[in-house]
Amino acid sequence: MTLTAVVHDAAEIVTLESGEDAGDAGDETELGIYTDAAVAVEDGEVARVGPTGPVTREFPPENAAHAVDASGKSVIPGFVDPHTHALFAGDRSDEFEAKLQGKTYQEILEGGGGILRTVRATREAGDEQLLDNLLGHLDTMLAHGTTTVEVKSGYGLDAETELRMLEVIDRADDRHPVDVVPTFMGAHAVPEGRDADEYVEEVVQDQIPEVESQGIAEFCDVFCEEGVFDVDQSRRVLEAGKDAGMTPKVHAEELAHIGGTQLAAEIGAASADHLLHSTEEDIAALVEADVVPVLLPGTAFGLGAAYADARAFLDAGGDVAIATDFNPNCYSQSMGFAASLSCVEMGMTPAEALVASTTNAAAALDLPENVGTLREGAPGDVAILDAPTHVHVPYNFGVNAVGTVLKDGEVVYR
Ligand code: NIG
Ligand code: FE
Repeated sequence: MTLTAVVHDAAEIVTLESGEDAGDAGDETELGIYTDAAVAVEDGEVARVGPTGPVTREFPPENAAHAVDASGKSVIPGFVDPHTHALFAGDRSDEFEAKLQGKTYQEILEGGGGILRTVRATREAGDEQLLDNLLGHLDTMLAHGTTTVEVKSGYGLDAETELRMLEVIDRADDRHPVDVVPTFMGAHAVPEGRDADEYVEEVVQDQIPEVESQGIAEFCDVFCEEGVFDVDQSRRVLEAGKDAGMTPKVHAEELAHIGGTQLAAEIGAASADHLLHSTEEDIAALVEADVVPVLLPGTAFGLGAAYADARAFLDAGGDVAIATDFNPNCYSQSMGFAASLSCVEMGMTPAEALVASTTNAAAALDLPENVGTLREGAPGDVAILDAPTHVHVPYNFGVNAVGTVLKDGEVVYR
């Protein structure tokens, strides 16, 4: 056994362990908070968490490969970002300006911009360029406390480029401390000059079998949206993906209400994402089917659209997750910013936002129970804030509250 790390004398450690034994007596937040606390990581996994005295007697910091004095600081699990399109080439900052002048997302897409423009740039880029781009974004995410992230393909829209994207995502996962979960999203848009039905057949008959034999993608996602893929086309893609061993995910009710949430419930998706226009019945169906609602407040912010009704999902008993949706149309890699928006614009409490960006986000990716927690046995994925409480994550809006990050107990950012 190697003592990888001991983080000690923290103002608080948020374990995300619920239940009677969790945290200090009197902790009513259900976040499992210990004050004046330490966490010991052995062979990459949390071996002990609790008050500094007993933990450091059992695991002396001087014996650890990494000893971190966290006096005055809050220690939380690394964030899990369960929805991004972080692999792409090109720049669309001019579309941000166009949107500020009143152009809509759909107008930009119909004019050959938006996703289709990124598709052109991504097809032209070499593998090394794409890998470099993704590694750069992973660096930024890590610096903002993210230790696990989902990344989708979907800027290829042909078998060759989709497979290339998945290959690059896999290489980035190998190369970078952040864990990367790969999702195939060949049905992200209808390629220029093509018919949607005919393209869906290409995805089902050509792309999915090749993605299956490549063996990288864990999830299959589809943009179920007015003017993109309707419910039947989306179902066709997700069923085929499921048969090929990929768990479904759905971009649902982002710009209009067309039934993607019900489809996610019916098909047993791991998550339904966006949900800006979901109805009460949709919400009930998701909760009933145990599909994680993934809310993406950065997208609403960037589009100037109305936010998802997070309270309705929470009040219905949904295990709400939040994500950055980092992509050229939603240019933020920061889970902290997503948390700020979740609190201020979607009415979530800082505690709910933290659960949404750790344990519930891990559930949206079907990760083992312990991921997104600092329970004993969890991976030693730790974010140490330059602040005394976890509330500073959303409270310090526009500024990164994270100072140090450990992945599997190794200090990977400081
Ligand atoms: O989740 N809505 C579809 N996909 C992305 C946007 C991708 C893009 O505009 O490049 C999203 O918001
Ligand atoms: Fe998306």
